[in-house]
Amino acid sequence: MPAPVPDRPATSDEAALQARFDATIAADHRIEPRDWMPEGYRKTLIRQIAQHAHSEIIGMQPEGDWLLAAPSLRRKAILLAKVQDEAGHGMYLYSAAETLGADRADLTDKLIEGRQKYSSIFNYPTLTYADVGVIGWFVDGAAICNQVPLCRSSYGPYARAMIRVCKEESFHQRQGYELLMTMMRGTPEQRAMVQDAVDRWWWPSLMMFGPPDDDSPNSAQSMAWGIKRHSNDELRQRYVDMSVPQADVLGVTLPDPDLTYDPDSGHYRFGAIDWTEFKRVISGNGPANAERIARRRAARDDNAWVTEAATAYAAKHAS
Ligand SMILES: [Fe+2]
Ligand SMILES: [Fe+2]
Repeated sequence: MPAPVPDRPATSDEAALQARFDATIAADHRIEPRDWMPEGYRKTLIRQIAQHAHSEIIGMQPEGDWLLAAPSLRRKAILLAKVQDEAGHGMYLYSAAETLGADRADLTDKLIEGRQKYSSIFNYPTLTYADVGVIGWFVDGAAICNQVPLCRSSYGPYARAMIRVCKEESFHQRQGYELLMTMMRGTPEQRAMVQDAVDRWWWPSLMMFGPPDDDSPNSAQSMAWGIKRHSNDELRQRYVDMSVPQADVLGVTLPDPDLTYDPDSGHYRFGAIDWTEFKRVISGNGPANAERIARRRAARDDNAWVTEAATAYAAKHAS
């Protein structure tokens, strides 16, 4: 039985408020927007949720590039639905950040000015249609590993947003895998395209879980606050264990000569990740960083008139 949470204190006494917050976290209950919370908790959540929202929105670009070149109407309809879902995920997440007092336009400005980050994975280009399938399989698969535990995150609006997001990510992963299965049943050239896409996306997908635990300065506090439930390395291992049998079924080779099954632990051991590449990409110098941000900036600036018109319309009706 979790310890009962003390009643909301009728006080502005910081120590009593902190005690109630700590008891809520210890009892595994949710913190809601109207509850008192430490400033560090609020700031950490805004940073994490904003980074997550930006990743959903920027993540529309690499796949969006293929909307006009999808090989059939069926593939186009599937890809369009998926890219739209990612826009929806971004919107849920910006709304969750707003419950913490953040301003959506301000978060977008911070993204464009390079003051907030997004997932490193979206700074790689999509070279063939097989990349669409591999993104669904790897990138959405990694997102599922990351996000399923966030459904139990201590902050209520974030946890609830994740429940729907995860259902949609599951569809995304399956459509990617089904696309790859179809290509693997095709010509030798199609199979080679799939293998080439796997070779290019595997290592970057392992980097999606963030730096190793001994180089992840904010992780311990985030876990103590119940924002994060598992460490970066735990989630990365879970992802590798899930992906290796799927690669076997598909008939592709993961580009890691050190990948071996360890019967003692029941896990797949994998080779060293190139953290220099990760740091280069996350700090803005990956293959497509400049293009991603330039497009996001153009979308903000070119569509500013829509926001202005909608704001003026709302103000007119309010008066
Ligand atoms: Fe998403
Ligand atoms: Fe997705």
